[in-house]
Amino acid sequence: MTDIESRTALITGASRGLGLALARKLAERGWALVLNARGETDLEAARAELAEETRVVAIPGDVADAEHRRALAKAARTFGGLDALVNNASILGPSPQPGLLDYPLDVLEEVYRTNAVAPLALAQAVRDELKPGARILNVTSDAAAEPYKNWGGYGSSKAALEQLSNILAAENPELRVYRVDPGDMRTRMHQEAFPDEDISDRPLPEESVPGLVELLTGDLPSGRYEARALTRANEGAR
Ligand SMILES: NC(=O)c1ccc[n+]([C@@H]2O[C@H](COP(=O)([O-])OP(=O)(O)OC[C@H]3O[C@@H](n4cnc5c(N)ncnc54)[C@H](OP(=O)(O)O)[C@@H]3O)[C@@H](O)[C@H]2O)c1
Repeated sequence: MTDIESRTALITGASRGLGLALARKLAERGWALVLNARGETDLEAARAELAEETRVVAIPGDVADAEHRRALAKAARTFGGLDALVNNASILGPSPQPGLLDYPLDVLEEVYRTNAVAPLALAQAVRDELKPGARILNVTSDAAAEPYKNWGGYGSSKAALEQLSNILAAENPELRVYRVDPGDMRTRMHQEAFPDEDISDRPLPEESVPGLVELLTGDLPSGRYEARALTRANEGAR
């Protein structure tokens, strides 16, 4: 791990929600940032805001697109390599989510491509840019393990991401590979998941950020973590 002033993270899906909240916190701590999202307007707004604080490049595109991943890897190289790859971008699939027997298979393939294949593909694309001690942080979900009705598409994509992360960690002991459940958060994805519900009681993504920062800057071994439990453990230790 390099000095904090020269650390760089690539965060996918950083135009809103958890990705933007993490980008803001890392910018505050002096990290340089390579960011992406599909929507150009929101991404440019995020870039302009963060550029007040740190060195940032934002490249609009879809994580499922190989050409776009190459562009992100090239930007990481320009920044002198990565201390962290944060695979945060994800899609829910249909809203409301259908049961598995009714799940449109073309959409299921898109959900898998985005949520499971793309994070591994991006790790492959940036493998030569990862600095010694770099961390790969893959954002998963409790839906990866719990049999919630109608969560079969998104949940199984996150289950695949969990096990890809688990095995990537076993194969690459020189890296830290984390899979982390951020918990329920008041974001666009959460509203899509519960289209008829008032989600104003859910915690903001900012509450999950300290746990992610602990993984990116602390000394925890590769493995599965719950972001807000890490925050509570840290508060208890103080
Ligand atoms: N919210 C929750 O309650 C909750 C719970 C457990 C886990 N999570 C996980 O937490 C992470 C963040 O979710 P969130 O709630 O912050 O979601 P969000 O508010 O919907 O934000 C998702 C971000 O990812 C980008 N994105 C989506 N698909 C993309 C693609 N194919 N290529 C590039 N960028 C893409 C979005 O921008 P564009 O749409 O413009 O591309 C946006 O910046 C996800 O991995 C999610 O599965 C969320």
